[in-house]
Amino acid sequence: MEWPSSGSRSGGKPPRTPPTGEEECYDDVDEHKLVTIGVCALEKKACSKPMKEILGRLLSFGDFEAVIFGDDVILNDPVTSWPKCDVLISFYSQDTETDKAFPLAKAHEYAQMYPHMYVINDLEVQNDLLDRRRVYEILKDHGIQTPPHVIVNRDENNNVVGEEFIEGEDYVQLGSDVVHKPFVEKPVCGEDHNVCIYYPHSVGGGMKQLFRKRNDRSSEFCTGCNNVRRDGSYIYEQFLRTAGTDVKVYTVGPDYAHAEARKSPTVDGRVQRGKDGKEVRYPVLLSPAEKETARRVCLAFRQGVCGFDLLRCKGRSYVCDVNGWSFVKKSVKYYEDAAGVLRTMILT
Ligand SMILES: Nc1ncnc2c1ncn2[C@@H]1O[C@H](COP(=O)(O)OP(=O)(O)OP(=O)(O)O)[C@@H](O)[C@H]1O
Ligand SMILES: [Mg+2]
Repeated sequence: MEWPSSGSRSGGKPPRTPPTGEEECYDDVDEHKLVTIGVCALEKKACSKPMKEILGRLLSFGDFEAVIFGDDVILNDPVTSWPKCDVLISFYSQDTETDKAFPLAKAHEYAQMYPHMYVINDLEVQNDLLDRRRVYEILKDHGIQTPPHVIVNRDENNNVVGEEFIEGEDYVQLGSDVVHKPFVEKPVCGEDHNVCIYYPHSVGGGMKQLFRKRNDRSSEFCTGCNNVRRDGSYIYEQFLRTAGTDVKVYTVGPDYAHAEARKSPTVDGRVQRGKDGKEVRYPVLLSPAEKETARRVCLAFRQGVCGFDLLRCKGRSYVCDVNGWSFVKKSVKYYEDAAGVLRTMILT
């Protein structure tokens, strides 16, 4: 597929010829005006394989043209000179390799300039996605179950703010709320993936550190690491026993959700890969209650395209992470569904 270069436009139809003056009705011309979809995201995401697959299918319907803003425009140009669009695909990402971070406030300012533009993923709420505390608060406000947790806030001198925090051998306590080991310790920053799990004395103690996948590893166990971190603010939550799998859910609008399961990094830290080197994924059917959760997550965070993690434990499902814009990789069925659903969302 041909892909538009930064700032260029490409559509599903050949360019229209200008009116000659002999047309019966000029309205015909407007009726066929292409809807402009702006893709305002860091190039690594805007030009990723799933984005190309889905946008390519969207354009082939013949109703749309696409404008890829490009990193230079996004990072260096003032919003007043950003391209004008009818629909906006825009989302935060951070590229640790190049140290580029998407300028969320700038994109929000741009979106506010065009109140009639259809923004698929609300930019203001994307700030909340960067803070796990806000994510859990929003989930709670919308009646969505999260793992039982306490939030330990510290100030710039690393002193606990608010209720008294106590650490015992097998528990942490904030005020009167106790969380027993095994528990999960998450940095409040949603972009910080240094999540730790602490085990009780009865099974030998220790801690498992999770991290972004490196080759075939996703976690390491540390014997003798029994004390929690005190260098910032953390969430402590009950470790929910699943069947060793995470359920990853991907919404496209409130009524469509694709789900798949993967081995949890908490099992043994070894990433399960197939012959093609890709992580093994298991098909999952969501229960009616889980579909309702997907709908609520999508609406609560005003993120049309939204990925989140579900933990299935003792017949219930809990949301432990909401990631915002996220496409399923390597699924032709999903690419086709997503393009069709997005078309309907945009045109109706
Ligand atoms: N309360 C919990 N109980 C059991 N396992 C948990 C719990 N919270 C998180 N996990 C496990 O830890 C993993 C990482 O947690 P989480 O998704 O919150 O962190 P993250 O670093 O934001 O992940 P991501 O890479 O998806 O952004 C989950 O995929 C799940 O396997
Ligand atoms: Mg996650």
